[in-house]
Amino acid sequence: MFGRAGGLAMADASASPGATAGFGCGLNSGLQGLGDSSYSSLSGTLGGAHLLAVNGVSKAFGGLKAVNNVSLQVAAGSLTALIGPNGAGKTTLFALMSGFLTPDSGTVVFDGQDITGQAPHVNAMLGMTRTFQIVRPFAAQTVRENIAVGAHLHVKHRAQALALAQGVAQRVGLGDQLDKPASDLTVAGRKRLELARALATRPRLLLLDEVLAGLNPQEISEMIPVVRGVAQEGVTVFMIEHVMQAVMNLAQQVWVLAQGQLIALGAPAQVVADERVIEAYLGHGTAAKLRRANFRGGMP
Ligand SMILES: Nc1ncnc2c1ncn2[C@@H]1O[C@H](COP(=O)(O)OP(=O)(O)O)[C@@H](O)[C@H]1O
Ligand SMILES: [Mg+2]
Repeated sequence: MFGRAGGLAMADASASPGATAGFGCGLNSGLQGLGDSSYSSLSGTLGGAHLLAVNGVSKAFGGLKAVNNVSLQVAAGSLTALIGPNGAGKTTLFALMSGFLTPDSGTVVFDGQDITGQAPHVNAMLGMTRTFQIVRPFAAQTVRENIAVGAHLHVKHRAQALALAQGVAQRVGLGDQLDKPASDLTVAGRKRLELARALATRPRLLLLDEVLAGLNPQEISEMIPVVRGVAQEGVTVFMIEHVMQAVMNLAQQVWVLAQGQLIALGAPAQVVADERVIEAYLGHGTAAKLRRANFRGGMP
C-alpha cells in the first residue's frame, strides 16, 4: 500500500492476514488525542502498573528540539509500539529512556525508581535493555560469543555465559548458527542476533528499535512470532516500528510521535485511521483527500 518512502511501511493484505485496518478506513475513530489540554491526564497503560514512565522529557540538538516535552507510560506486561515519521525523535526518546542520552528536562522512572540520566549498563542491570537500529555485532566473533556479551551482565564465568547464549539463540531461531562468525549472518540473522544480545541481559523491559527494518516480507512474518514469544515469556516490550504489519499484529497500543511531540495514543487500528497521524506521515491535507476518495467508493 504505502512504501517506505513515506516512512510507514504498510503491509499488503496477502502479507498480513491479521491486519485489516489501514489509512482511510474511517477517520477519528475514538483515538485519544494528545494535542489538547487533556494531554497530561491521559494514561498509557492498560490498567496495569507502569513499568516505565517518561515525564515531560525534552532533548535539543543545537536549535532542534528532537524530543519536546514527551510524557508516556508503559504498562508492565504490555506490548506497546512507538511509531512516527523518520526524524520524529523516536530513537532519541529511546536513548533518553535507556540512559544513552540525558534529557535537558523531565524525568524517566523505571519500576518506580527515578533513573534519569543513569548510565545504560546500570539500567540494564535493573532490567531495561535496548536494541540498536544500526546493528553492529562483533563480526569476527561467533554468534554464541556475541550473545554471551549480553549474558556477562549477570554472569561472570565465560562457560556459563556461553551456555546461556545457547538457550537465548534458540529462543530467537539462531540455535543452528551458534558457531558461525556474526559476519556470515544475513541481515535477518543479524537482527535476530541483536535481539538475542538484548535478551541475554534478561530484560524486564525490552526496547526494540526497528528490529524488522531491512527485512523482506517473509522474514518479517517469521520474526513477528519471535517478538510475540518474547512478550509471552513475560518481558514487557516497547517497540519502535515502521512495519505496520508488525504493529497491527503485535501491539496492544501505539504511541505516535511527530516532530518530537506525541500526537496520538490508541489501539493500532484506531491510530492508523486517525487524521492527525495520517497528516503527520503523508502531509497536510491528505486526510481530507482520503476521506473524499472514500466517499467516492475507493482508495486513491
Ligand atoms: N546526536 C545527534 N545530533 C544531532 N542531531 C541529532 C542527533 N540524533 C538525532 N538527531 C536529530 O534529531 C531528530 C530526531 O532523530 P531520531 O531520534 O533519530 O528520529 P527517528 O528515530 O524518529 O527517525 C532528527 O532530526 C535527527 O537528525
Ligand atoms: Mg530511529
